[in-house]
Amino acid sequence: MNSAGLSLEQAPPFSVPLRFFLTAPWFLVLAAALLAWRGPEVFASRWLPATLALTHLLTLGFMAQVMLGALLQMLPVVVGVVVPRPRLAAALIHIPLTLGALVLAVAFLNGSPAWFQGALGLLGLGFGTALIAVHLALWHAPVVSGTVIALRCALGALMVTVGLGLALGGFFGWGFSLPVVIVTHLHTAWGLVGWTTLLVAGVAYQVVPMFQITPPYPSAFVRGFAPLMAVLLVAWSVLTFGDWETAARLTGAALALGVGLFAMTTLYLLTQRRRKIGDPTLAYWRTSMASLLAGALLWLLTPWVPALAQAPQVEWLLGILLIFGFAVAVINGMLYKIVPFLAWFHLQAQLLGRAKVPTMKQLLPEVRIRRQFWAYLATLLLLLVAAVHPSVLTYPAALALGVTGIWLGVNLWAVGWTYRRILQDGLAIAPVRDNQVMRG
Ligand code: HEM
Repeated sequence: MNSAGLSLEQAPPFSVPLRFFLTAPWFLVLAAALLAWRGPEVFASRWLPATLALTHLLTLGFMAQVMLGALLQMLPVVVGVVVPRPRLAAALIHIPLTLGALVLAVAFLNGSPAWFQGALGLLGLGFGTALIAVHLALWHAPVVSGTVIALRCALGALMVTVGLGLALGGFFGWGFSLPVVIVTHLHTAWGLVGWTTLLVAGVAYQVVPMFQITPPYPSAFVRGFAPLMAVLLVAWSVLTFGDWETAARLTGAALALGVGLFAMTTLYLLTQRRRKIGDPTLAYWRTSMASLLAGALLWLLTPWVPALAQAPQVEWLLGILLIFGFAVAVINGMLYKIVPFLAWFHLQAQLLGRAKVPTMKQLLPEVRIRRQFWAYLATLLLLLVAAVHPSVLTYPAALALGVTGIWLGVNLWAVGWTYRRILQDGLAIAPVRDNQVMRG
């Protein structure tokens, strides 16, 4: 995404992605509050209601929130197709997704079918709107680049994840009969490997070379990785469902290798950066990819190493590495690129020649990004150790998670607030441009 490739006519109003970006960090804070409230018991099993609530505060409230907001922003730029009625689409996704994530968390905690039914209605509406809006845009893409291919695979995977999630919710809400454990495994894999990893890959093909000034990803990788992973996921799902254990294990190993290959390729490209001045978001990319690689290795080894297969903490470590280490880190880093850039871009486009527009670094000083990174990293390490020694470290981990969430939220709100103030000041001296200013 750069100013040369983005025109004001193409770009949706700033409020469209911003509402998602400003909401998401507070779900980290809610997750921290839940962890502090339930304490070390959360780490007793991945199937506990509090654990499932915590998982979805992160996967829906934080991850899906930012990923869908970013897609609404990116599609016109990367794919060249405008999502129709962007403000309405954003509201119809953002409000039900936010409420749905909250209601689902409460449903897990109190186990009431009525709350599950409410959550499913809200999440069905939010994801239904998102899937229709984004699919329509993606299938009309004039040029089918590697990114478009990966985004299509990611969106297909989101459809499967949400379908399985709704079915699981139906089990709790209406008593649907289904093999819950297998369906949960499939839902988890499609959510973390299909939706999350393939979306991050599709975005990485564009932004890693552009923002980190690296060579491009190999073109065969760009075109082949996502479709291959999607085919493997389908094969793994069929084999798992049909209880073909060895074949499913081998396909699972191939999936883990694929994920590891993406992480290693990205880490390698980051060593080839042509600009030697450190970029503050580089640390997020490195941490994210190192966590993904560690998660892939753990996933690869667990079925074959009895000591790991029998250790209950392994599932926890895997979940923390993939959700908090991989996804939350890369999203946190990307937010620091996207939000100041969009604020600068919309100010520039609307106040050019009328008022002085601050640079991106003035909108969000690098020092704030670097400091929040240390809070993020401390949280990741504390969570990993807490999974093994919950009685000692659960509360410090919860506190660190709360701090990193608030810090991210405050940093992003500060950009939004400065944007509004400068726009209003500009408006005061340039009343002629009222109509255009309101677009922001
Ligand atoms: C409509 C949206 C969704 C609904 C209704 C939903 C519902 C559920 C339910 C009911 C379970 C628990 C199954 C059980 O206890 O047996 C579950 C597990 C899980 N879901 Fe979702 N989900 C949704 C979206 C997502 C997304 C988008 C992701 C990830 C990106 C995700 C990740 C997970 C994970 C990782 C687990 C397993 C948690 C664990 O084992 O502790 N979910 N989901």
